[in-house]
Amino acid sequence: MTNGSYYDKLKHDEDNKIHTKKITVSDIISMKEKQKKISVLTAYDFCTAKICDKAGIDILLVGDSAGMVMMGHKNTINVTMEEMTIFCKSVSNGVSRAMIVTDMPFGSYQINSDMAVKNAIHLIKSGSDAIKLEGGIEISKTIKEIIRAGIPVMGHIGLKPQTSTLWEGYKVQGTTKSAALKLLEEAKMLEEAGIFSLVLEMTSSEVSEIITNNIKIPTIGIGSGNSCDGQVLVLHDMLGLYDLLKPKFVKKYADVGKIIYDAVSKYNEEVKNNDFPSIEHSFIMKENELAKLKDIVLK
Ligand code: KIV
Repeated sequence: MTNGSYYDKLKHDEDNKIHTKKITVSDIISMKEKQKKISVLTAYDFCTAKICDKAGIDILLVGDSAGMVMMGHKNTINVTMEEMTIFCKSVSNGVSRAMIVTDMPFGSYQINSDMAVKNAIHLIKSGSDAIKLEGGIEISKTIKEIIRAGIPVMGHIGLKPQTSTLWEGYKVQGTTKSAALKLLEEAKMLEEAGIFSLVLEMTSSEVSEIITNNIKIPTIGIGSGNSCDGQVLVLHDMLGLYDLLKPKFVKKYADVGKIIYDAVSKYNEEVKNNDFPSIEHSFIMKENELAKLKDIVLK
């Protein structure tokens, strides 16, 4: 708000409008039934979450990719519950419409179901609407226990960054008949366990289509073709902020990295040249007060 006029207030309220209709699990499921595509982006902080929410993104995923794009780790393995909690709280402060799904970090759900349920409850209390965990048959008991505690779960199969890095690296999944059948079986088993949607990461387009057509819950693809019911990208990849990995499936929608670089360079130059701050960005004393002051200090 610039000068506090009625018009400015209205404009301010409009810019900060609270979209009260929060997206629920049943909205997401019915989008598949109505053949409406689901938009998902990762988010980790208040400001960008607020922008994504305003832009109409359906689900904001507080991904453990935060470990890489926010913290500079080489992979997602070292991300902790404490860190995910901070990202989750920050996103939740910026969102009024989008559903928030938070990744359970590596180590927070593998040890036993009790620990998994406790950690899932903690993320919900931190502002998330649902949680996501990576894996198939090996975590179906855990998924059932978390759902039994009343928490919606999003599944994640195909490339599973938390463990794929330990076994085989980042590779396209489901490229042979047997691998494809295994993915389909896992998807059906996870649906049976009660998940409300399923991320398919780097699975061949054909397998994604088969899985999408053979389960009732929505599939959310990342590098998995356009047959999925929704799409997710890592925000920092699509904005051109993270340049250490350049997966084929990422479309760069903006070069925000360059915008920031140009702005910061200009600021640096202006500070060094004493061009910033100008009068416009400074506070000036009243003339009569200044005159009185000068009388004293310049005597
Ligand atoms: O952590 C993350 O960003 C994710 C997406 C890649 C789906 O899990």
